Amino acid sequence: MSIIFFLLLLSSCTSSVLSADVNDGLVLLKIKEQLGNPQELSNWVDGFQFCGGLTSGNGQVQCTSTGRVKLLALQGITAPAAPFPEAICDLTELEALILSFVYNLYGPIPSCINQLSNLHLLDVEYTGLSSLPEFLFLNHQKLTNLILSSNAFSGSIPASLSTIPNLYHLDLTNNSLKGSIPPDLVRGQYTYLYLSDNRLTGEIPKSYQWTPLSSIYVRNNKLTGDPSFLFSKENIFWIDLSNNNFEFNLSNVEISETLTYLYLGFNKIYGNIPKSIASSDHFINLDFRDNKLCGEIPQREGFPWQPSDASIFADNKCLCGSPLPPCYKAGPAP
Ligand SMILES: *[C@@H]1O[C@H](CO)[C@@H](O)[C@H](O)[C@H]1NC(C)=O
Ligand SMILES: *[C@@H]1O[C@H](CO)[C@@H](O)[C@H](O)[C@H]1NC(C)=O
Repeated sequence: MSIIFFLLLLSSCTSSVLSADVNDGLVLLKIKEQLGNPQELSNWVDGFQFCGGLTSGNGQVQCTSTGRVKLLALQGITAPAAPFPEAICDLTELEALILSFVYNLYGPIPSCINQLSNLHLLDVEYTGLSSLPEFLFLNHQKLTNLILSSNAFSGSIPASLSTIPNLYHLDLTNNSLKGSIPPDLVRGQYTYLYLSDNRLTGEIPKSYQWTPLSSIYVRNNKLTGDPSFLFSKENIFWIDLSNNNFEFNLSNVEISETLTYLYLGFNKIYGNIPKSIASSDHFINLDFRDNKLCGEIPQREGFPWQPSDASIFADNKCLCGSPLPPCYKAGPAP
């Protein structure tokens, strides 16, 4: 009797040890330990039902139908200073990993992240992680959204980011990234590229003209050159080049019908504002502030400039006409 019971127990133990959900439960406890057993994860205890609807709070888990962890979100964890918890790399069915507002994490994103070949979403924001080693993201065929904003990443944009075949949303904003934007970073599916608030230099690669890119945010960097080839790109929707060192003649640029947001403030752009900019019905938001533009501001049909639009044109070389004061015209003396 007791032997049969023991055997039954053994077989059920064996099958549950082999069944992956138990392993993922142990992995979650390991992650908690590697984070220094933070208070916010105090309900993660031996044998806890991690697949059972932990849908709110600082540590959220969702499982596959077979009981493997497919989503892990650790948010607002006040862990003691700790490196990236490498046990995460053992959650091999993970499709979405969100780590945000875990300020005390430090060091690199470890290369074991390459084991997570099912990832669709990797969102690491507001941590102290400071390095993005080369050779990350080598097995990420399914990765579509890579959000690594507001960390402490320094160095240049790793070339391996150019190898993710199905990425369409890359966000590296608000780090300390230096160097130039890799020419093959945007290809394939890319439509959203967010690189604002870094220390990037060099030009926006000309090759981006022939990509599906629809939104590009490079505000607050040290970029140079003439990226106006983007303005006429098919499907372009949102361009923010503000506060860089771009220097080009705006007079003859062509504007795509789809371009809706164009922010050019705080650069060294010269020439006139082309009529095509005023005649495009799509424009909702424009900013030319603090450049070296000159000449008469073209007037829009249907919706004239308002006095409050004056700031869009402020601090240029010699722009004039509504909403700024009229241009001086030599004429017969009264
Ligand atoms: C930029 O990142 C730092 C570090 O995570 C953060 O403290 C700051 O709030 C972020 N800035 C913005 C505008 O999000
Ligand atoms: C800008 O280009 C226009 C048209 O080609 C030209 O007439 C103008 O002189 C240029 N402006 C400057 C400041 O180079």
